[in-house]
Amino acid sequence: MLTYRDPGYQKIKEELFRHLEVSGDAYKDTYLLRRIRARMRKLGVNSFIEYYRILKGNRKELEELLFTIAINVTEFFRDPIVWKTFQRRVIPEIVGVKRRKYSRLIRIWSAACSTGQEPYSIAMTLYEALGENLSGFRVQILASDIDREALSIAMKGEYPADAVEKQVPRYMIAKYFVKVSEDRYRVSPKVRKLVRFQYFNLLSPRYPRGFDVIFIRNVLIYMKRDAQTEIFKRLYDSLEDHGFLVLGKTETILGEAAKLFKLYDLVARIYRKNPGVMGRGKNIGGG
Ligand SMILES: C[S@@+](CC[C@H](N)C(=O)[O-])C[C@H]1O[C@@H](n2cnc3c(N)ncnc32)[C@H](O)[C@@H]1O
Repeated sequence: MLTYRDPGYQKIKEELFRHLEVSGDAYKDTYLLRRIRARMRKLGVNSFIEYYRILKGNRKELEELLFTIAINVTEFFRDPIVWKTFQRRVIPEIVGVKRRKYSRLIRIWSAACSTGQEPYSIAMTLYEALGENLSGFRVQILASDIDREALSIAMKGEYPADAVEKQVPRYMIAKYFVKVSEDRYRVSPKVRKLVRFQYFNLLSPRYPRGFDVIFIRNVLIYMKRDAQTEIFKRLYDSLEDHGFLVLGKTETILGEAAKLFKLYDLVARIYRKNPGVMGRGKNIGGG
């Protein structure tokens, strides 16, 4: 019987979390079971204990499983330094540009938003930086992902209370969340209304355009260099000339694509479009 009560499943879990550097209770059994069963189906394995033995003897399979599990991992205000830099430096720069251009619209894209914590963190940081009325700006945050299940969680905007309390400062929980039950919070309507969720595959040729900032964090690490280069070229065209690109903590722009962006803040992994680069992205579809 393939349920969470199976002792083989418990053994798999122990093995997994030893390598994943997270505590076991960060994940629901339903989620883990779904991913593990998918791997087992692929290998034609019918019992947890048999799959556990494969995991123990085969490093590659362990890595496969880790990959499928880690792929959705996210949290509110992941890597705090990024959010400090975004609030204290990037947002004021954008406000300056907008004032010079007499524009009242700020557009931000969270391009692999998983279950929504990143775009909601963006919305909360904008309120913190610009105030209750967003200094008169209209803010549009596009949040996209390839995982429809993750997107439906994101749209609901409801999260376990213990995770929210661990990741979000208490004064912000009071401002931006509503408690919906003993153990769950929902992001408040004023945060939710800034974000529009949409399915989008980063490997597709047509990208949306006109963004002041693009967050693309902890997704490119799973991709090969050629795919990364194509994506960076498309992101270049998606950004306004003054635009900022925010990567994950361990990510960087390598090779051919490096000339498209200038490093803005190394620690926070924030880059800025290098608008002087000519002929960029000409070989790419998407007009
Ligand atoms: C580790 S999460 C990152 C979430 C968030 N950006 C963060 O840093 O916390 C990676 C996300 O990338 C998404 N993803 C993977 N391949 C993708 C693709 N080709 N197009 C769009 N999203 C993709 C996964 O579904 C997953 O939700």
